[in-house]
This record gives sequence, structure tokens and C-alpha cells, in this order.
Amino acid sequence: MIKITLGVSSSISVYKALDIARRFKERDCDVRVIMTKNAAKLVSPLLFETLTGNPVAVDMYESRQSQKVEHIELAKWEDILVIAPATANIIGKMANGIADDFLSTHYLASTSKVVVAPAMNGRMYRNRIVQENIEKLKERGVIFINPKKGMLACGEEDEGALEEPLKIVETTLSLLKEKDLAGKSVVVTAGATREYIDPVRFISNPSSGKMGYLIAEEAEKRGAKVVLISGQTYLNPPKGVEFVKVETTSEMKKEVLNHFKKCDILFMAAAPSDFQPTSRAKEKIKRERGSLKIELKPTEDIVSTAAKNKKKNQIICAFAAETENHIQNAKKKIKAKGVDYIAMNDVSKKDSGFESDINEIILIDSKLNSYNLGKDSKQNLARKLLDKILKK
Ligand SMILES: Cc1cc2nc3c(=O)[nH]c(=O)nc-3n(C[C@H](O)[C@H](O)[C@H](O)COP(=O)(O)O)c2cc1C
Repeated sequence: MIKITLGVSSSISVYKALDIARRFKERDCDVRVIMTKNAAKLVSPLLFETLTGNPVAVDMYESRQSQKVEHIELAKWEDILVIAPATANIIGKMANGIADDFLSTHYLASTSKVVVAPAMNGRMYRNRIVQENIEKLKERGVIFINPKKGMLACGEEDEGALEEPLKIVETTLSLLKEKDLAGKSVVVTAGATREYIDPVRFISNPSSGKMGYLIAEEAEKRGAKVVLISGQTYLNPPKGVEFVKVETTSEMKKEVLNHFKKCDILFMAAAPSDFQPTSRAKEKIKRERGSLKIELKPTEDIVSTAAKNKKKNQIICAFAAETENHIQNAKKKIKAKGVDYIAMNDVSKKDSGFESDINEIILIDSKLNSYNLGKDSKQNLARKLLDKILKK
């Protein structure tokens, strides 16, 4: 049974949350409702209790004896947190780490997927502060169901109306899709490699590894057996994945070829160095020796080598970080390397790509069709990438 926490804040559309709770129950979900105190002034918690058959949480400071719901326990229990309707106030608190009531404190304790459906006056919705708060939350992976245009309580026809309860319920349930990668094996590469000049100096790049780690996490959640082959990052490996740490491009190639034999899908999201010094000094090179010329040679091409070993049912998705002629370069690459997909990201943009939490991906397939996955959090892009590749 899917376990849903429904957060309800004090928008004029609060009554629609009753329909949302009812529809989740119709789909056999177990629903626990948290209401803000203001929402409880507009609609009685008793109605939600009756519809869901569960106690409703409003006050964090109810006496321990009578307290029926506890925010940390609820955070551990749920599969997903849905906040609908979400006021400008709760969105602002979530974006800024404020935990001054049951719902905002619960959000900070929650590690599950979070869906937010805002509802407010159009002018409030377009307010820069509200939009900045929404962007912040999106960057952290919160999924927004945008409000629609409609007749608002203030009598204005404007955007800001809560999306239809049925759409909110269906979007939420589609995010908890069945384990569509059950029985599949996925290999993901991530992070930067290091090519040593001497024992303490190396050539590398600023790849954070975030995109690859999030793809590995998403694939694991969707039921795949995942091997994450990682160069240098400062990230903790996601739970449940087999973690293989490598340092150089040559080590990464060896591990990729070894694990690729048994896998169904290979995502190459790492940024292995394209060049390595022709020789590596055994001892630290001293500054006193004066100016230094380092000769570089290309490293081995992991993507092409894996593609040459590809069996019929295997899928390879390589990443291309481009700074110019993006699409043309990515299309050339897909042919030259013989892979099934290229996920192209433009790393010349300051606000996305390397090190950032957001990215912008255009996915190109071997028939040279391109799909713009948009600018989004790397977490959402990992989900969209898997959705696209699995539905091919
Ligand atoms: C009748 C009524 C309707 C309201 N509708 C909205 C709304 O749709 N969206 C919104 O952001 N605020 C709305 N507000 C204002 C919020 O209730 C107010 O900002 C409140 O402090 C939010 O508290 P909460 O987020 O803890 O529920 C409304 C207030 C009232 C009295």
C-alpha cells in the first residue's frame, strides 16, 4: 500500500484537499494528513480524519499522552509527501529552512519525494520572492504541480488556481511508478578522473559527480541492480548500490569493461580526463628546476571501447559536455562512438552543468532525434532520462 503524507495549508482551495485525500483513498493509498493551524481554522480536521480513517496532525505541542502523530515517525513512514494546496507562506518556509509548525518541521525531517501544488492569487504567485523560493525548492528536487489559470477567489481570472485534484493524485502516483527496472542491471560512471604528473600533482576537471550519483540512485529506487563506478567526488554513494572507486581514466576503463559485460544499461556520466601526461615523474617535481613543459597524450576512449563490445540488447547512454556547436557536436559523437544515446549538456552556461545542482539536457538518440529534457534539478533530470530511455 502506498503511504502518503498530505500537507494542507490555508489557501482558499483548502476544501479541494478533501477531494485529494478521498481520491488517494480510492486508489488504496494510506493517507496521513498534516494541517497548518490556519488551514484547520478554514476546514475541520475531523473531515480529513473521517475521510482517511487516520488521525490528523496539527499541533506539535499536544501533550505526549494525547499526541497521536509524531513528525519524525511520520517522515520515516511515508513514501511521498504531497503539499496541496501550498500557500506562499509554506513555500517560503520550506525554501528557507523554517520549522515553526508541524508541517514545516515534518518537511525538514522528510527524505522522501516531495510534491508541491501551489495555490494563491496570481500577483502573489508571480512575486519575485515566491518565484525565487519555488526555484530554490526545484533545485533541491521538489516537484511542482503548477497552478492553472482560472477564476480566483478574489474575483480575478488569473494563474494561481490549484491544479485539479485528479491531476494532482495522478501525477503523484506516477512518480511512485512500479519498479520498472526490476531484474535489470545498470552501470553508471560518475565524477572526474585524475592523471598524475608526479606523485602529488594531477590533471583533472571540475565534475562534481552529482548527475551520475543521482542516476544511480534513481535506477536503484526503480529496482535495478546498480554498479556505480566513480572517480573523484565529495559525495556519499547512494544506498543500495555497488560502489567501485577509481582514480585514473585507465582504471575507469578497466572497471567499465568488466561490469559492462553483465549489464543492461550503461550510463557514462563521468568526466574522465581526455589527456594524460606522456610520463609520470616518480618523485615530486621540484620548483627549483625552473619552467616545466608537460607533454600530454590522449587517454583511452572508454565510450568507444564499450560501444565496440556492445551486445544487441544493451543500451549505452553517454554524456557530452559541450561548450560550442552543441547539437552538431553531439550528433557527430553519437555516430562516431556508436552509442544509443547522447545526453548533451552545455557546460558553457554559468548557472548549470559542472558543480551545479541544476542542469540542462538535450537527449539525442541514434536516429538523431533530439528530446529537450529542459533545465531542471539534476534529480528530476535523472528521472526524466530514465523515463525517456525506458519508453523508447
Ligand atoms: C480565506 C483565506 C484564503 C486564503 N487563501 C490563500 C491562498 O490561496 N494562497 C495563499 O498563499 N494564502 C492564502 N491566504 C493567506 C494565508 O492563509 C496566510 O498567508 C497564512 O499565514 C498562511 O499560513 P499557513 O501557510 O501556515 O497555512 C488566505 C487567507 C484567508 C483568510
